[in-house]
Amino acid sequence: MKEYFNELISTRQSCRDFNDKPLGKETVLEIISSALLAPSACNSQPWKVYAVTSPEKIKQTALAIGVNGHNKFLSKAKAFIAVAEKPAVLKEGVRFDRNHFVKYDIGELIAYITLKAKSIGVETCIIGMVDQNLIKPALELKDGELCNIVIALGYSDCAIRDKKRKPFDETVTIL
Ligand SMILES: Cc1cc2nc3c(=O)[nH]c(=O)nc-3n(C[C@H](O)[C@H](O)[C@H](O)COP(=O)(O)O)c2cc1C
Repeated sequence: MKEYFNELISTRQSCRDFNDKPLGKETVLEIISSALLAPSACNSQPWKVYAVTSPEKIKQTALAIGVNGHNKFLSKAKAFIAVAEKPAVLKEGVRFDRNHFVKYDIGELIAYITLKAKSIGVETCIIGMVDQNLIKPALELKDGELCNIVIALGYSDCAIRDKKRKPFDETVTIL
């Protein structure tokens, strides 16, 4: 288990070069089903997940996240999982604004999506540059839903890169 997890987190990497292998809708739904086990504050699950699998919606979504010509590789993505934030319903007596935890909750969900995908051989790239004017019609978002994160999915022949991370001592304080 420990070795498997270490391998999973060190080989998960942002993929910006998807190959032509198609990705089935069932695989996308399998990834989402597992990711929905992610924790959230008060178990409020303040999200709505969109499985973008039809060619027309994939094209529309790619345009909504290719802001100012960024993320050109998205035209080769085989599917997207878009995550919309929703207002949280917290337990009574919690002394925080109801939306205090939402972005952390969404982060948990995204981590689960990317790691579950990797565990079944699917590559991902998290995309945070979302054009609100284009994503709303693309996903047909409901009132109160805000999509700031889309995950591109597909397969890749890319080699595993070395991780570039800040040094441990710069990041971690031991008390
Ligand atoms: C919230 C968030 C937004 C991101 N947005 C983008 C993006 O718009 N385009 C992109 O190519 N990568 C994006 N990334 C991927 C990061 O660049 C990447 O995770 C980071 O450089 C570390 O590399 P690795 O994922 O390969 O380990 C995003 C990641 C996160 C967590």
